Amino acid sequence: MLSQEKNRLLTEVGPGTPMGNYLRRYWHPVAGVAEFDQKSVRPIRLFGEDLVLFKDLGGKFGLVQRRCPHRNADLAFGFVEQCGLRCAYHGWEFDASGQCTHQPFEEIVDTEARLRQKTKITAYEVRAKAGMVWAYMGPSPAPELPDWEPFNYTNGFAQVVMAEIPCNWFQCQENSIDPIHFEWTHNNWTERQQDSQSEHVPTHLSTKYEEFDFGFVYKRLRAHETEQNPMWTTGRVTLWPNGFYLGHHFEWRVPIDDENTLSLLWVFNKVPKEQEPYVQEHIPAWYGPLRDENGDWITTHVANQDFAAWVGQGAITDRTRETLGASDRGIVMLRRRFFEELDAVAAGAQPKGLITDSVRNHNVFLPSACRDEMLNGMTRAELAAHPLLGAYLRDFIGQYGQPDSVRDAYEAAIGQKVNRARFFSVHGVRQSDAEVAESS
Ligand code: FES
Ligand SMILES: [Fe+2]
Repeated sequence: MLSQEKNRLLTEVGPGTPMGNYLRRYWHPVAGVAEFDQKSVRPIRLFGEDLVLFKDLGGKFGLVQRRCPHRNADLAFGFVEQCGLRCAYHGWEFDASGQCTHQPFEEIVDTEARLRQKTKITAYEVRAKAGMVWAYMGPSPAPELPDWEPFNYTNGFAQVVMAEIPCNWFQCQENSIDPIHFEWTHNNWTERQQDSQSEHVPTHLSTKYEEFDFGFVYKRLRAHETEQNPMWTTGRVTLWPNGFYLGHHFEWRVPIDDENTLSLLWVFNKVPKEQEPYVQEHIPAWYGPLRDENGDWITTHVANQDFAAWVGQGAITDRTRETLGASDRGIVMLRRRFFEELDAVAAGAQPKGLITDSVRNHNVFLPSACRDEMLNGMTRAELAAHPLLGAYLRDFIGQYGQPDSVRDAYEAAIGQKVNRARFFSVHGVRQSDAEVAESS
């Protein structure tokens, strides 16, 4: 339970707020590079600011304020030039730094372009990496854009999967340090959606949380597992400040504003060894829906189950009305760490886990329970038998709504058709006893 004031500190992300300022000190993935295959300009809202993201004809990305400074036209209607974005109303043009580079009629009259030279709009640094477009909205200089080790994995198929979630970012991020929910949200709920009589899956017996440079690691031990299980020996990463890393995929929760969050997954599936060498030419990016054709929440896929849980907590969940228990130890640690960070940064300290040394920013290691598999690969048979990764041969379990074109490309990469399953057995549910014994 928190005071209203402390809840506001965690949840308010607009310009000038302590948490908004804090999060702006980090790079955030905000779009898929592949979104710009077909279009060059799109509106985007981040941290309570209305912006336009574009890719100019020279291939450079830019992120600028949405309103044209001339007479407030919407730059999302603009069109790109070789080096920048041009307003569709009177043709003023801006480069990715926000500098006005052309004022067509004004420059006929004012040949020295005095007005143009002093016209500059808000612009943020933006870069492409691993099929994602990343933005940095904090003070200069920007830190390094992390080169996480999985971005350099080979022989795999990556995809960027997004959704806009109508709730505050922090309740999404609390989910990254909440191992117990796997058992209920992803296991028992999945089971009961298929069979109202199904037995509950093996329960959690113990959890551990450890802090490190780039966040926390949580570890969990379930009733059917031994202490040699990788979920107990290695665990998973609550990636600071707004991510989650599970070995074969990342999740980020990027604030759109106080009541909306961009969920962005980067999922990397190793192709079977029989398909190596495999080089992915194009990383697809897609948005999935939250509701089905009847208007009901989709709850069949892993991320969709999470979305329903988060949105169900309220647009900005009221932490003055909680009853925290033993399953919330990680949540309490996470909140405490954020409060300490906000104080420390206000006093001039560097935010946690920023990488500022370019030499250090190469193939940056994060703990992973399936790192060996991701580095060394698996035969088709090993992949099929893998307790976590094998599910990706049944269909894309991460989130509902994968476009057929992406499924086709994935099937071509792995050299087989997927089963087009509607529900998924993940993390040890509905497996044979032998599989259960080694499941994650
Ligand atoms: S409003 Fe943009 S150029 Fe006039
Ligand atoms: Fe989850």
